[in-house]
Amino acid sequence: MNKILRYIVLVIVFANIKGFSQKTLDERIQWYRDAKFGMFIHWGAYSSLGGYWKGKSSNSGTPKYAEWIQAALNIPKEEYTKEAQKFNPINFDADAWVKVAKEAGMKYLVITSKHHDGFCLWNSAYTDYDVKDWAGQDTDFLGQIKEACKKYGIVFGTYYSIIDWHHPSQKPKTPYTNGWDSYGQIELVNGEKSKKEYIKYMKGQLKELIDKYDSKIFWFDGDWVKWWSMEDGMELYKYLLELQPDAIINNRVAKRNKFFKDFGTPENFTPGKKLDYDWESCYTMNSSWGFKKDDHSWKTPKKLIQELIDISSKGGNYLLNVGPTGEGIIPDASVKNLKEMGEWLSKNGASIYNTIFSNAALQKWGRVTQKGNTYYLNIFNFPKNEELEFYGVTGEVKEVKLLETGKKLSYKVRKEGIVIDLKGVDKNPLSTAIAVVFEPNNIKLYDKGSK
Ligand code: GLC
Repeated sequence: MNKILRYIVLVIVFANIKGFSQKTLDERIQWYRDAKFGMFIHWGAYSSLGGYWKGKSSNSGTPKYAEWIQAALNIPKEEYTKEAQKFNPINFDADAWVKVAKEAGMKYLVITSKHHDGFCLWNSAYTDYDVKDWAGQDTDFLGQIKEACKKYGIVFGTYYSIIDWHHPSQKPKTPYTNGWDSYGQIELVNGEKSKKEYIKYMKGQLKELIDKYDSKIFWFDGDWVKWWSMEDGMELYKYLLELQPDAIINNRVAKRNKFFKDFGTPENFTPGKKLDYDWESCYTMNSSWGFKKDDHSWKTPKKLIQELIDISSKGGNYLLNVGPTGEGIIPDASVKNLKEMGEWLSKNGASIYNTIFSNAALQKWGRVTQKGNTYYLNIFNFPKNEELEFYGVTGEVKEVKLLETGKKLSYKVRKEGIVIDLKGVDKNPLSTAIAVVFEPNNIKLYDKGSK
């Protein structure tokens, strides 16, 4: 009897300890909701190829992305691994990279610790196919990036691919038709047995990313293969939170169309409206994630800032990608774009950081975010008559001002909204931000619709 009682007490105590140590999603993710803007880094063995292998461009296969080159050109494993051996980023400078992110106004960073090709960016005890054992690099790349993140106050996170073109548990589907159908749909070599082996490998590696680098964001990918189930993903999700209770994990850990925790991951698009879960749109800055020498289709700073504003107004985060070269350099065009974004944010950041989805998000001239009693209006298209109709929100206004200079603007309060006088206002070519500050508890919504 005594024994049973002791057992029961132990179970209760254990359950409580677990209950206390387990943080809620809100507690884990609040910093991220406020952060809004992060840097995605695609970097690995493929970066040295820059989208070309033996004179052939990854454009001649599918997908065309430079990080998919092994698949796009069906490069034999032995040949690709030889390329990986040459990984030698002589110009790598972690401080410089993270400084670019910091100056751009980014608050977190997610780097590919292992992409689909299976090559690991850190010295992993679970494989030789990594920067140290395979490519002979003594630099602890992830460690240095992590340290620089600490210095600049940026949260460090890691991307990790579920599919793995190198691990012996998997093999591309045959016959080869194209990269997506064969490598994208990679199969298990030996059914459940291979999966078990591979999950053990993943868990070991993910624990390394926590123990060595204290990764706070886990960004999975490759969840689409048939053999990876919702249950596999949820099990991995639980495993990670036990090891790293304050981490956040993207929804591709399980099945992206069915699992929405901790955040959804629309890729290269922005949902048209508010979603009822946290989300982050990831975007390329040209047309590839990994470095591609001949891809010069760079977006403009205006396009990028407006993407960030649009996403913020709908309650999401913006994860913007850079693809450093094999030598370890972030392309100049990316650095230039990020600098301009940073300059804009240094003056107008109040309209982005810590804001929430606004019920007046969509306006014909731009986008709206909100923080407490303040609405932030970002004007993409200046009205010709220089009168801005802020439709749908009215009430007792305390002041209206231009965010960049603090200059007060005159306005009229109407039944269906506020009309702001823009005469003499200097336009910002990226977006002009205005703050409409209401008296506490004096906001009235006219209509939820947009105009
Ligand atoms: C895709 C691609 C991949 C890229 C990722 C970023 O799933 O497979 O190359 O890393 O999207 O979201």
